[in-house]
Amino acid sequence: MEKLILVIGSNGQLALSFKKICPKETKFLSSKELDLTNIKKINQILNFYQPKYIFNFAAYNKVDDAEKDKKNILINAEAVKEISNFCSEKDIFFLHVSTDYVFDGSIGNYCEEDNPSPINAYGSAKLKGENYIREICKKYIIIRTAWLYSNGKNNFLDAIRSQFSDQKDLKGANDIIGSPTSSDSLAEGILMVYKKMQSQSLSSGIYHFANKGRTSKLEFVRKINKLLSKKINCKERKVISVSNSDFDLKADRPYDTSLNVNKFESEFGFIIPNWNEELTKIIEKI
Ligand SMILES: NC(=O)c1ccc[n+]([C@@H]2O[C@H](COP(=O)([O-])OP(=O)(O)OC[C@H]3O[C@@H](n4cnc5c(N)ncnc54)[C@H](OP(=O)(O)O)[C@@H]3O)[C@@H](O)[C@H]2O)c1
Repeated sequence: MEKLILVIGSNGQLALSFKKICPKETKFLSSKELDLTNIKKINQILNFYQPKYIFNFAAYNKVDDAEKDKKNILINAEAVKEISNFCSEKDIFFLHVSTDYVFDGSIGNYCEEDNPSPINAYGSAKLKGENYIREICKKYIIIRTAWLYSNGKNNFLDAIRSQFSDQKDLKGANDIIGSPTSSDSLAEGILMVYKKMQSQSLSSGIYHFANKGRTSKLEFVRKINKLLSKKINCKERKVISVSNSDFDLKADRPYDTSLNVNKFESEFGFIIPNWNEELTKIIEKI
């Protein structure tokens, strides 16, 4: 138990990807074991496990519901403050995952030094969480990622896949740009970070991690359509180009939140795959 990595989150996409490659000294906590909305109990539960590292993969990710749901601020900000206090007291490394939605999307290709300026409640709460970590923790790594998907359930690829089997036309927004990222790819990146954390040669900081390149939601859907139809051996669907406003969403979406990953690649000596080749690989696994 001496070098335990405690991962908060057990059944989410990133947690499931990390489970496949994690060191044996890893313990995953589900929301049943640690409910991040129950702020008062967080310290006591973390203390029980005596971790050497804490990786927070849990989040409130429902971007539209976040506009009104108080759980957004509790899970994405207040719980993160509590975990930060624990890590600071125990002098342990806190690795936290944040989002491209801390940016307003006006410029794209965002570097770590660019000013965050969220335009929705989810992005604001995640930024508040980041700021608590930076104020409180002595040893921390914040990894901002984007457009996370996997070959499992509850993500964008899965949503397109179910529309596929419903025989419907597919729709893709031509005015939303970003960096689609597989949770498998991010899990590999986090393992590299962990290796450097152990060698004590890692300074605290923020890093961007996304599959390389940038694309619109429309192109992303087109590519999924092509690859998935081949994989499941059926006819390609028609893909309709729409504007994001056609979806009638409650929360605003930033225009271009593509992330620049040069800092991550040079610090960790890790070449991050391009989103195109990664998507091909993930659809192969379906
Ligand atoms: N999904 C995206 O497109 C996207 C984009 C950018 C950044 N991110 C960030 O990437 C990270 C990983 O996201 P993901 O897509 O893997 O998440 P996910 O699949 O939506 O899973 C959410 C995770 O949060 C946990 N959780 C939810 N409510 C909780 C609560 N009250 N108490 C404790 N845990 C709770 C869940 O617990 P259980 O294990 O019990 O299910 C689950 O492990 C998050 O920080 C997210 O903000 C995601």
